[in-house]
Amino acid sequence: MHLWLFGYGSLIWRPGIDFIDRRPARVQGWSRRFWQGSHDHRGVPDAPGRVVTLIQETAAFCDGMAYLVDREVVDETFSQLDHREKNGYERHQVSLEFHRSGGDAEGVVYIAPIDNFAYLGPAPLEDMARQIHRSEGPSGHNVEYLLELADALRKLNAEDEHVFELEAAVREIKT
Ligand code: BEZ
Repeated sequence: MHLWLFGYGSLIWRPGIDFIDRRPARVQGWSRRFWQGSHDHRGVPDAPGRVVTLIQETAAFCDGMAYLVDREVVDETFSQLDHREKNGYERHQVSLEFHRSGGDAEGVVYIAPIDNFAYLGPAPLEDMARQIHRSEGPSGHNVEYLLELADALRKLNAEDEHVFELEAAVREIKT
């Protein structure tokens, strides 16, 4: 069976995987939050950056992009992603709504649960903005990650107050 993969972070603008179809999609009951520490991509072990995870929240939803992965390459695609997202993320099964094109499907998503070793949790907006502003790791600056995500969400016409408020707070910081 081909398999749907839901992207709500860097997978939206840089999938880095082969896929045979992609569609804007939504997951109900989850919020995107910059609450996961990044020691290996957008920060370093002594100075982690902040990246997104999904947090369970009734009546919330998260918009992103779903990718259909050919059955022939499902195993290698997930080994590649498991390695790339080894900093606390686990695969979960979720229901995807193709809210623009219509229909739904089951899919897989990477979520960093709140009990993982790299979880940072919530913090005041200004503190999160300053942490992102000063963080950099092997995959690039943490600010770039946030701005790329905000741009990708605007292109999807996605609502996300948390991301857009954080973007505005980071842009306010004077260097
Ligand atoms: C994503 O873009 O969906 C994603 C977010 C965190 C880890 C792995 C993938």
